[in-house]
Amino acid sequence: MKHEILEKNVGLMAILIVVVIAVGGLVEIVPLMFQAQTIEAAPGVKPYSALQLAGRDLYIREGCYGCHSQMIRTLASETQRYGAYSLAGESVYDRPFQWGSKRTGPDLARVGDRYSDDWHRVHLKNPRDVVPESNMPSYAWLSQALVDPKLVETKMRTLRWMGHPYSDEDIAGARAAVTGQTELDAIVAYLQGLGVKAPEVAKTEAVP
Ligand code: HEC
Repeated sequence: MKHEILEKNVGLMAILIVVVIAVGGLVEIVPLMFQAQTIEAAPGVKPYSALQLAGRDLYIREGCYGCHSQMIRTLASETQRYGAYSLAGESVYDRPFQWGSKRTGPDLARVGDRYSDDWHRVHLKNPRDVVPESNMPSYAWLSQALVDPKLVETKMRTLRWMGHPYSDEDIAGARAAVTGQTELDAIVAYLQGLGVKAPEVAKTEAVP
C-alpha cells in the first residue's frame, strides 16, 4: 500500500530517486578522498621543479591535452606500448590532472627520457622534421618567449598552501631557476620529467 503512494506521486518519486543515487555516489566517491593509495604520492613521485611547473602551464595553454592523454590503462596493449600502467598516486601533484581521453597522438604519461632534449626541441618546432608523417602542429613560437619568473614563484606558494611539499629554498630559488629560460626550455623540462619521476612505480608489473 505504501508503495502505491510512491508510485502514484511523481514528485516524491523523483526526490527519492535523487536521494538514492546521491547515497550510492557518496559511498563510491568519499572513500577515495581518504585512501592513501589515491591521495598520497606514489614512491619516488616529487612535486614539479620551478621550470617543469612553468612547462606544465604551457602544456595546458597550448592545448596539448586535446591530442595527448597522460594515463596508461591496465591493458596489455597499452603497457606494451607505453610502459607500466598509471597509478593515482602519480598524479597527486597535478592540479588539474592531465589524464585526458583523446589520443590523436600517443600517450605521454611516460615519455620522459624516451628522447633527447634536442629531439623535443626540433619536434616541437616542426614535428615533420623528425616524424615525416606527423600531423602534430608546429609550436615554433615557444622558443621566442621567456617564462615569467614572478608567476612561477606565486604558483609555487599557492601549491605549497594546498599541501605540496615545497621547501623555503625551493620557493626562494624559483625565480632564479626560470629567469632567462624560454617557454621551449620549460615545456621540454616538463616532458622529460613525465613518468621518470617514479622509477619504482615504472617497475610495477603489467596486469596480465
Ligand atoms: C592536433 C593534435 C596534436 C596536438 C595539439 C599536439 N600533438 Fe603531440 N603528437 C601528435 C601526433 C599525431 C603525434 C605522433 C607523431 C609525432 O611524433 O609527431 C605526436 C607526438 C608527440 C610526442 C612524441 C611522443 C612519442 O612517444 O613519440 C610528444 C612528446 C608530443 N607530441 C608533445 C606535444 C606537446 C608538448 C604538445 C603541445 C605543445 C602537443 N604534442 C600537441 C598530435 C598532437
